[in-house]
Amino acid sequence: MNIEELLKLKFEEPEKSQSNLEDFHSMLDEGDLSWKDAFGLLLHQTNNIGLQLLDLNNIVEKMNGELDKFYNESFVKYSDSMERINSRNFDIVDQFVIGNEKYTNAGHYNEHYKNWRIARINKVLSIFGVDYFKGKRVLELGGGHGDIGALFAGLGAEVLCLEARRENVNIAKMKYRNVSGFSCEEYNLEEGLRQFGKCDLIVNFGTLYTLLDPEKCLHECAELSENIVLECIVCDSTDPHKIVRWDLDEENHIKLANDGPISIGRHILSPFFIERVMEERGYTVGRHFTKDLNCADHHYDWEHENDGKVTPNYRRFWYFSR
Ligand SMILES: C[S@@+](CC[C@H](N)C(=O)[O-])C[C@H]1O[C@@H](n2cnc3c(N)ncnc32)[C@H](O)[C@@H]1O
Repeated sequence: MNIEELLKLKFEEPEKSQSNLEDFHSMLDEGDLSWKDAFGLLLHQTNNIGLQLLDLNNIVEKMNGELDKFYNESFVKYSDSMERINSRNFDIVDQFVIGNEKYTNAGHYNEHYKNWRIARINKVLSIFGVDYFKGKRVLELGGGHGDIGALFAGLGAEVLCLEARRENVNIAKMKYRNVSGFSCEEYNLEEGLRQFGKCDLIVNFGTLYTLLDPEKCLHECAELSENIVLECIVCDSTDPHKIVRWDLDEENHIKLANDGPISIGRHILSPFFIERVMEERGYTVGRHFTKDLNCADHHYDWEHENDGKVTPNYRRFWYFSR
């Protein structure tokens, strides 16, 4: 039996999973199936997650470091899923959420998000401490799947996560349905923030540069909170009035990714533009342009060349307080 036949059987006659699995192992043992194909096959099986995971342990043991980068990354996802399966009861909603994570690397599902979120959450915790969040009201802008806001809710805050894409809101709602204090609303930030009322902290991560009018968003944040943590792409300029339009592959991004802008025509501010606006609004500027935030291709501790360009991975992180 070749890999296509095995796959076909798997989908068409799932009750034969166990015997398929035996075939599968004998193919592996006899060298008829490469480790890569074997792994690919497992990634494509959808009808029995538990079985795949058990099986994966076996396969990975045999792989002996033959994994290339892609498979390595996929395995990180798998081992993460395994941990989750082993650590708690795994209901139908969890299975669906994990299923989504497993079968794509696009947008919010890309592996780099995991480390990147951890680095930024750790930065926030180093600023505020974990006890800060108890009883606080937090507004999270462009929260994606809610992974950052949900952690603060877990620490005792009441978190409202605003996100424009229904597909992301759906995942956030399902993924964190058991975290009390966390809620997520489908909302386009371009429509203004005032209606959401005052809050103790605004978390504005990875989102300012997706907006058509980022300066308006800064002013609206200033209406609502004395504490703002902001993380974003900026343009490489020390000019406090520099703002550039950035259309890099936007049309494609809007169609294909779940983590980019929702409309074409976004604008990118210089870091000095952002600091000027926030200082004019009475905030103290806390720069965190530090190495501990660097991860994947994202850099925070870069030096200006002052060419006005936008390099997607040149980012800045601030805590503004008043
Ligand atoms: C790069 S992701 C950042 C996700 C998360 N905040 C983080 O930093 O890990 C940007 C998110 O903003 C959302 N977004 C883009 N434009 C938006 C808008 N106008 N209103 C609300 N959300 C928006 C996207 O759908 C995406 O989930």
